[in-house]
Amino acid sequence: MAESLAFSKTLDRAKIYDEIAPQIVALVEGETDLVANLANITAAIKESFGFFWVGFYLKKENQLVLSAFQGSIACTRIDFGRGVCGHCYTTRETVIVPNVDEFPGHIACSSASKSEIVLPIFDKSGACLGVLDVDSDKLDDFSNIDAEGLRKIVEIVEKLLEEN
Ligand code: SME
Repeated sequence: MAESLAFSKTLDRAKIYDEIAPQIVALVEGETDLVANLANITAAIKESFGFFWVGFYLKKENQLVLSAFQGSIACTRIDFGRGVCGHCYTTRETVIVPNVDEFPGHIACSSASKSEIVLPIFDKSGACLGVLDVDSDKLDDFSNIDAEGLRKIVEIVEKLLEEN
Protein backbone atom coordinates (compact mmCIF):
# COMPACT_ATOMS: atom_id res chain seq x y z
CA MET A 1 0.00 0.00 0.00
CA ALA A 2 1.51 3.37 -0.96
CA GLU A 3 2.25 5.53 2.05
CA SER A 4 2.58 9.29 1.98
CA LEU A 5 3.42 11.84 4.66
CA ALA A 6 1.52 15.09 5.15
CA PHE A 7 3.43 18.01 6.63
CA SER A 8 3.36 21.79 6.37
CA LYS A 9 5.69 23.52 3.96
CA THR A 10 7.13 25.73 6.67
CA LEU A 11 10.45 26.73 8.23
CA ASP A 12 8.88 25.95 11.62
CA ARG A 13 10.56 22.62 12.29
CA ALA A 14 8.76 22.14 15.62
CA LYS A 15 5.48 22.17 13.71
CA ILE A 16 6.76 19.58 11.26
CA TYR A 17 8.02 17.30 14.03
CA ASP A 18 4.60 17.55 15.71
CA GLU A 19 2.91 16.69 12.41
CA ILE A 20 5.05 13.69 11.44
CA ALA A 21 5.43 11.96 14.84
CA PRO A 22 1.87 10.54 14.87
CA GLN A 23 2.20 9.61 11.22
CA ILE A 24 5.37 7.66 11.99
CA VAL A 25 3.50 5.84 14.77
CA ALA A 26 0.83 4.92 12.22
CA LEU A 27 3.46 3.95 9.63
CA VAL A 28 5.06 1.33 11.89
CA GLU A 29 1.79 0.11 13.41
CA GLY A 30 1.30 -3.54 12.61
CA GLU A 31 4.69 -3.95 10.90
CA THR A 32 6.87 -6.36 12.89
CA ASP A 33 10.01 -6.19 10.76
CA LEU A 34 12.52 -3.90 12.50
CA VAL A 35 14.57 -3.03 9.43
CA ALA A 36 11.45 -2.14 7.45
CA ASN A 37 10.30 0.17 10.24
CA LEU A 38 13.69 1.80 10.76
CA ALA A 39 14.01 2.31 7.00
CA ASN A 40 10.64 4.03 6.82
CA ILE A 41 11.44 6.18 9.85
CA THR A 42 14.67 7.42 8.24
CA ALA A 43 12.78 8.05 4.99
CA ALA A 44 10.10 10.02 6.83
CA ILE A 45 12.69 12.26 8.51
CA LYS A 46 14.63 12.81 5.29
CA GLU A 47 11.47 13.51 3.27
CA SER A 48 10.13 15.95 5.87
CA PHE A 49 13.29 18.02 6.33
CA GLY A 50 15.55 17.26 3.37
CA PHE A 51 18.51 16.47 5.62
CA PHE A 52 21.61 15.19 3.83
CA TRP A 53 21.86 11.89 5.73
CA VAL A 54 19.63 10.14 8.26
CA GLY A 55 20.45 6.79 9.78
CA PHE A 56 20.75 4.43 12.70
CA TYR A 57 23.82 2.81 14.18
CA LEU A 58 22.91 -0.04 16.54
CA LYS A 59 25.07 -1.73 19.16
CA LYS A 60 26.26 -5.15 18.05
CA GLU A 61 28.81 -6.90 20.25
CA ASN A 62 31.28 -4.09 21.05
CA GLN A 63 30.67 -1.70 18.17
CA LEU A 64 28.03 0.53 16.61
CA VAL A 65 26.98 -1.10 13.33
CA LEU A 66 25.23 0.70 10.47
CA SER A 67 21.52 -0.08 10.20
CA ALA A 68 18.75 1.49 8.11
CA PHE A 69 19.64 4.87 6.59
CA GLN A 70 18.85 7.34 3.83
CA GLY A 71 21.65 9.12 1.99
CA SER A 72 25.14 8.50 0.63
CA ILE A 73 27.16 5.41 1.48
CA ALA A 74 28.45 5.36 5.05
CA CYS A 75 30.97 3.69 7.29
CA THR A 76 29.56 0.44 8.59
CA ARG A 77 31.23 0.15 12.01
CA ILE A 78 32.10 2.72 14.68
CA ASP A 79 33.97 1.90 17.88
CA PHE A 80 32.48 3.17 21.13
CA GLY A 81 33.85 6.62 21.88
CA ARG A 82 34.93 7.27 18.28
CA GLY A 83 33.42 10.02 16.17
CA VAL A 84 30.25 11.91 17.01
CA CYS A 85 28.23 8.70 17.15
CA GLY A 86 30.65 6.93 19.44
CA HIS A 87 30.82 10.03 21.66
CA CYS A 88 27.03 10.11 21.87
CA TYR A 89 26.97 6.42 22.75
CA THR A 90 29.51 6.67 25.57
CA THR A 91 28.27 9.96 27.04
CA ARG A 92 24.62 8.87 26.62
CA GLU A 93 23.84 12.47 25.69
CA THR A 94 22.43 14.07 22.53
CA VAL A 95 25.28 15.76 20.62
CA ILE A 96 24.74 18.80 18.39
CA VAL A 97 27.77 19.63 16.22
CA PRO A 98 27.49 23.05 14.50
CA ASN A 99 30.63 22.43 12.43
CA VAL A 100 31.88 18.86 12.03
CA ASP A 101 35.37 20.12 11.10
CA GLU A 102 35.65 21.45 14.66
CA PHE A 103 34.64 18.18 16.35
CA PRO A 104 37.76 16.22 17.39
CA GLY A 105 37.71 12.78 15.79
CA HIS A 106 34.66 13.42 13.59
CA ILE A 107 34.26 10.56 11.12
CA ALA A 108 33.58 12.03 7.68
CA CYS A 109 31.51 9.52 5.75
CA SER A 110 30.96 12.33 3.24
CA SER A 111 32.77 15.64 2.76
CA ALA A 112 29.34 17.18 2.09
CA SER A 113 28.37 16.76 5.75
CA LYS A 114 28.83 20.10 7.57
CA SER A 115 26.81 19.81 10.79
CA GLU A 116 25.35 16.90 12.72
CA ILE A 117 23.03 15.84 15.52
CA VAL A 118 23.21 12.42 17.16
CA LEU A 119 20.77 11.07 19.75
CA PRO A 120 21.16 8.01 21.99
CA ILE A 121 18.59 5.21 21.93
CA PHE A 122 17.87 3.46 25.23
CA ASP A 123 16.05 0.34 26.39
CA LYS A 124 13.83 0.21 29.49
CA SER A 125 16.77 -0.67 31.71
CA GLY A 126 18.64 2.44 30.50
CA ALA A 127 21.17 0.55 28.40
CA CYS A 128 22.17 2.37 25.20
CA LEU A 129 21.14 0.33 22.14
CA GLY A 130 22.55 2.67 19.51
CA VAL A 131 22.10 6.12 18.04
CA LEU A 132 20.11 8.11 15.51
CA ASP A 133 22.54 10.14 13.38
CA VAL A 134 21.38 13.10 11.22
CA ASP A 135 23.79 15.03 9.01
CA SER A 136 23.22 18.33 7.24
CA ASP A 137 25.11 19.80 4.32
CA LYS A 138 24.65 23.22 5.98
CA LEU A 139 26.73 24.58 8.86
CA ASP A 140 25.03 24.95 12.26
CA ASP A 141 21.77 23.47 10.98
CA PHE A 142 20.55 21.85 14.22
CA SER A 143 19.14 23.28 17.46
CA ASN A 144 17.28 22.10 20.55
CA ILE A 145 14.12 22.12 18.45
CA ASP A 146 15.60 19.26 16.43
CA ALA A 147 16.85 17.55 19.60
CA GLU A 148 13.31 17.65 21.08
CA GLY A 149 11.59 16.67 17.83
CA LEU A 150 13.97 13.83 17.02
CA ARG A 151 13.77 12.65 20.65
CA LYS A 152 10.04 12.04 20.16
CA ILE A 153 10.87 9.91 17.11
CA VAL A 154 13.59 8.06 19.03
CA GLU A 155 10.96 7.19 21.65
CA ILE A 156 8.98 5.47 18.87
CA VAL A 157 12.14 3.55 17.91
CA GLU A 158 12.77 2.57 21.54
CA LYS A 159 9.32 0.99 21.68
CA LEU A 160 10.04 -0.90 18.45
CA LEU A 161 13.35 -2.21 19.78
CA GLU A 162 11.69 -3.34 23.00
CA GLU A 163 9.16 -5.33 20.97
CA ASN A 164 11.80 -6.79 18.64
N1 SME B 1 29.85 11.45 11.28
C1 SME B 1 29.62 10.27 12.11
C2 SME B 1 29.84 9.00 11.32
C3 SME B 1 28.64 8.48 10.62
S1 SME B 1 28.52 9.24 8.99
O1 SME B 1 28.23 10.66 9.28
C4 SME B 1 27.01 8.60 8.38
C5 SME B 1 30.57 10.29 13.33
O2 SME B 1 31.49 11.10 13.38
O3 SME B 1 30.36 9.42 14.22
